[in-house]
Amino acid sequence: MPKGKFIALEGVDGSGISTQVGLLKKWFLGRGERVFATKEPTDGPIGALIRQALTRRVVRPDGSPLDDTTLALLFAADRVDHLRCQIVPKLEHGVHVISDRYYLSSFAYQSLGDDLEWIKIINSRARRPDLFILLVVPPITSQERMSRDRWQVDLYEELPKMEVILRNYLAVARRLKEEGENVRIIDGARPLEEVQGEIRTLVEGVLKVLD
Ligand code: TYD
Repeated sequence: MPKGKFIALEGVDGSGISTQVGLLKKWFLGRGERVFATKEPTDGPIGALIRQALTRRVVRPDGSPLDDTTLALLFAADRVDHLRCQIVPKLEHGVHVISDRYYLSSFAYQSLGDDLEWIKIINSRARRPDLFILLVVPPITSQERMSRDRWQVDLYEELPKMEVILRNYLAVARRLKEEGENVRIIDGARPLEEVQGEIRTLVEGVLKVLD
């Protein structure tokens, strides 16, 4: 039985990853293919802990937030657990897997607080996806989208941080490309259908490659 393909979508917060994952899943189903859409942080125990840490419901004994190094390790642990419990078994059974975020997120976000080489080491047990798609949306646009869809984030405080994360994403995506990973960078600021059209073309290319 041919194995499933593993596709990960990436981008700064509000870049439309989850919407595009949903549309891509529909497209796979329309083709009569088996597909599993998933996300990181996961809905599993380590993902739940991460979400509680991010919302400061889990803190240190003195009430301060968990430090960046601890969080980086939690994201990496969640990923390995995700692979073992969900992603790999699905791929082995011929089911395609689309993930809303994967290790490129750790490279772009956690390198704000720790050095990238170490982040790469703690993620080195995470297998390469068949395709990474980075949706590039200017942070001002993604912030505007988020303030429409969700409760208001602190727009001006978050914006410079998002600019840095986007720069990290672009730098690391280019580097991984040079190292032979299949990373595609696309303009995510265009209309939804147009972005989805390009994603589908890229995915079709991957589906043609036989293992
Ligand atoms: P997000 O996709 O926004 O989750 P939700 O839609 O459930 O709120 O992810 C939560 C945050 O975690 C987001 O800001 C990106 C960040 N993140 C990292 O910093 N490192 C990682 O490895 C991952 C997967 C996410």
